[in-house]
Amino acid sequence: MKNPDEPGVFEKSIEEKVIHPGGDFTAQSLVKDDYLYALAAKDPLAFWAGMAESINWSKRWEQVLDGSGAPFYRWFTGGELNASANCLDRHVLGGRKDKAALIFEGENGERVSFTYAELHKEVERLGCALRKLGVKKGDGVTIWMPMIPEGIIAMLACARIGAVHSVVFGGFSAEALKTRILDAGSKVLITADGSFRRGKKMPLKSEADRVLPECPTLEKVVIVERTALPYQRVEGRDVLYRQIMAEAGDPCPPETMKADDPLFILYSSGTTGKPKGILHGTGGYMVGVTTTFRYVFDYREDDVYWCTADIGWITGHSYIVYGPLSCGATVFIYEGAPDYPARDRFWELIEKYKVTVFYTAPTAIRSFMRWGDSLPAGRDLSSLRLLGSVGEPINPEAWLWYHEIIGGGRCPVVDTWWQTETGMIIITSLPGVTPMKPGSATRPFPGVEAGVVDEEGNPAAANQKGYLVLKSPWPAMFNTLYRDDKRYREAYWEQFPGLYFTGDGAWRDEDGYFWIMGRVDDVLNVSGHRIGTMEVESALVDHPAVAEAAVIGKSHAIKGHAIIAFVTLREGFAPGEPLLRELKDHVVKKIGALARPEQIHFASELPKTRSGKIMRRLLRDIAENRALGDTTTLMDSQVVASIREKFSEP
Ligand code: WTA
Repeated sequence: MKNPDEPGVFEKSIEEKVIHPGGDFTAQSLVKDDYLYALAAKDPLAFWAGMAESINWSKRWEQVLDGSGAPFYRWFTGGELNASANCLDRHVLGGRKDKAALIFEGENGERVSFTYAELHKEVERLGCALRKLGVKKGDGVTIWMPMIPEGIIAMLACARIGAVHSVVFGGFSAEALKTRILDAGSKVLITADGSFRRGKKMPLKSEADRVLPECPTLEKVVIVERTALPYQRVEGRDVLYRQIMAEAGDPCPPETMKADDPLFILYSSGTTGKPKGILHGTGGYMVGVTTTFRYVFDYREDDVYWCTADIGWITGHSYIVYGPLSCGATVFIYEGAPDYPARDRFWELIEKYKVTVFYTAPTAIRSFMRWGDSLPAGRDLSSLRLLGSVGEPINPEAWLWYHEIIGGGRCPVVDTWWQTETGMIIITSLPGVTPMKPGSATRPFPGVEAGVVDEEGNPAAANQKGYLVLKSPWPAMFNTLYRDDKRYREAYWEQFPGLYFTGDGAWRDEDGYFWIMGRVDDVLNVSGHRIGTMEVESALVDHPAVAEAAVIGKSHAIKGHAIIAFVTLREGFAPGEPLLRELKDHVVKKIGALARPEQIHFASELPKTRSGKIMRRLLRDIAENRALGDTTTLMDSQVVASIREKFSEP
């Protein structure tokens, strides 16, 4: 674990500024004063029990929180519900049947939209078709899709029939897909022939075919036709989405799920080479995401809400699919990149669809800033009323730009801190009430308790850097790591007994505001995506030329972190440009383009302690071009000197 006090690791560079919400926004917002904070503080469990009333339960829960098996907490025990029925059926029955649920625009400008009644019908159809393919409650279904409506329909269809979905980001490689199918033991893969990215067609199905023969549990592959890219059809295994949908059509009653029955697995990077299967349940998760969506995004019936995440990440799960649809919102989704066909694509879409609430990542905001103010100025963004940020720390400069240039100074910015594990937003402002400090995620959401502790787990003093922990359970918390209860305990609950350890460094100012500094473990945040340094290292040493590899993150003005690798080669391999390219491509093949190292440096040796541990800390110092930290445990100081020399070569 990194020491948050390590010089230069986290810069506390804040010109503190407080921006008070108010005016028209507060006058019309759901929460206008501190009552929600006060209510939750008085009795958090009673608060969450109250929030659970906005979920449809087919059987009411008996106990709000069962902590008897801690740290395996169970929420709303005894309760039964179905997530897809909460996202669809109740709106169809409750007066939103003709309201737009999902509006999609493709990269090529095509537009498709679904009312709640239409989305319900599609989901029933697919649920029914999956049942016909033999998918039963508890079975695993992997979804590897572009950002198209069928991905969301697939998630909801799984939820409907009680199948546990595992969405794998479409930008991951086939090998990464294989690891995740094998770990989840999935029976069915739902994918597409390919996806569009910046005008190019990227294959999915033909890529998957390279690894599917090594996935013994997989029985069926469902293919959505998107790009007409060619692929081999495997008789008896492969079926077309279009065809099974046409042949289905029976009603598909939702499966009854217990509150802690699994809803999905989402793989995320941790500190080892193997991704963690973060397993979320149903009842607590739905209460958590519904409540936070409503209050953090100050949900209004006529909102057009756009979250730019991909369904392959937790933000897509909680704040494109389950939270907004559970509230009956109109969700806009876009297939493509922000700079295609032009760099004002997002602003064009906001103007065109009159988007009111916009939720994106700091890395995107920093790119927009670099592209210049004239692009947003050329579009009518007056429909916007609220802005959100997620995925990584947002620097005050980017925050202020977002607030001024995109929000016209009138839209509050909610900087939402949370994780795949937490399932729901944990630290955030409430847009109508909480004074905002650019760069700070502000305060824990009502009913959530967070803190900052020192190395020993004692509360840190105001403004003292330490480790971010959660002090009590929260409803959307993950159940466990899939088939790895031991790792669940060790990774999250043993660092500081009785506290959930987030893996982030933070400090709290004298007003109790949280300032998140980023990961203190071996996880990088590259463009808002979590990537484990060990995963990249494993991918590198998988190449026959590589003997050892050490991967670190170097600060990057746009991406947050850039991946920098140091490798030593096996006997008989020579460093050079061709091998460099080959190694980068190898990482892309093993993980995906998002993990492509920005730089790879060849070294004759890596700096190690006497016991043989690679000292990544020193490599970080070299990469950041700063004085070396403590080198007393370093075995051979010559090694560092020679790496530094090479590193500074142009
Ligand atoms: C980081 C994404 C600062 C943090 C929802 C966390 C943030 C990791 C913020 C989780 C934020 C997320 N400010 N840092 N507002 N939001 N992070 O699991 O390091 O992909 O631990 O979930 O992203 O990433 P994950």
